[in-house]
Amino acid sequence: MNEHDLVLPPAALVQEERLSILCVDDEELILKALTRTFRKEQFKVLTARSGEDGLEILKNSKSIGLILSDEKMPKMNGSDFLQAAAKIFPDIPKIILTGYADKNAAIDAINKGGACHFLTKPWNDQELLQLVRDCLHRYGLARENQRLLTVVRVQNEKLAGWNSSLKERVLNLVQERIDELNKSHLELLRRLGTAGEYRDNETGLHNVRVCHFSRCIALELGLPESEADLLFNAAALHDLGKIGIPDSILLKPGKLDDAELNIIRTHCEIGSKIIGDNQSPLLKTAASVALTHHEHWDGAGYPRELKGSDIPLSGRIVAVADTFDALVTERPYKEPWTVAEAVKEIVSSRERRFDPEIVDAFLRALAEITAVHHQFTERR
Ligand SMILES: [Fe+2]
Ligand SMILES: [Fe+2]
Repeated sequence: MNEHDLVLPPAALVQEERLSILCVDDEELILKALTRTFRKEQFKVLTARSGEDGLEILKNSKSIGLILSDEKMPKMNGSDFLQAAAKIFPDIPKIILTGYADKNAAIDAINKGGACHFLTKPWNDQELLQLVRDCLHRYGLARENQRLLTVVRVQNEKLAGWNSSLKERVLNLVQERIDELNKSHLELLRRLGTAGEYRDNETGLHNVRVCHFSRCIALELGLPESEADLLFNAAALHDLGKIGIPDSILLKPGKLDDAELNIIRTHCEIGSKIIGDNQSPLLKTAASVALTHHEHWDGAGYPRELKGSDIPLSGRIVAVADTFDALVTERPYKEPWTVAEAVKEIVSSRERRFDPEIVDAFLRALAEITAVHHQFTERR
């Protein structure tokens, strides 16, 4: 099939199209007799006096539905003519006209030239007309069948194209909506985290810094980017439980007594309960971080006194990030420490308060962490 197959005559034209009969004979009288017989029956007739002329007509006409050829002609005989014609239009029915003496040549025309019938001269008009009607009818049906098959194929290709472009458009639209939902979901979580921090830090920058520090440490530890991003978003909720701590304790300048410390420490449980049990990996991590970011490597932390690798990795990472930021930031009860002082404190708590590997990763990421700290510092 090539692109020309797509240019199809309308169905009505093929059905009603009067296909022509190409008659080839070197004898003028025979051609005249044939023309007379066919025209009486309203058939369209084209004539050629040689195989060569017949091929010329074939090349220039698209309406030929039957070839009727004499076998015995000078230069190109009927078999050779039909063989050459078959190369141009293999499906057009071909009839060979022979004298009695030419029967072997007729067989040759059938085998070599693809002739479907042979008639002997002199022919019987009624027999010839019936044969011609049958051949044209069958050829018309075959052409119509071919046309319909091509129409179906073209329509199927168009439909397949529409389907795939529709599928692609729908998938793109769905992906856009998912991205929008994810974006607003993350924004909501960040704002929720900020709500927990709002009373003791109106700018919400502590949360932003802890998220970035945690991501830097996670990448330095060799975690995949997707997990580092998950932790980045989950860390925003680490102090969500502060929502449940009274202002008198949360904002108290100076040292807290034991009772007050115990109340402050409930922010871990409160935060993880607010986030709740959830199937979403992000909320699962967020609940775990909220619950465990004050646990200590040596088991002396709170609220559950978990030890070593019993503390989830996410909680151990946020513990270092959160402590570093708390040290270098001004709080109601303390002045900000310098980065060097804070680093010294973190290093001295290695293996006691913090996972040693995470402290090492923190130190390796320190340049990036201090750059983030500088970028997101409260300006007064
Ligand atoms: Fe906390
Ligand atoms: Fe915090």
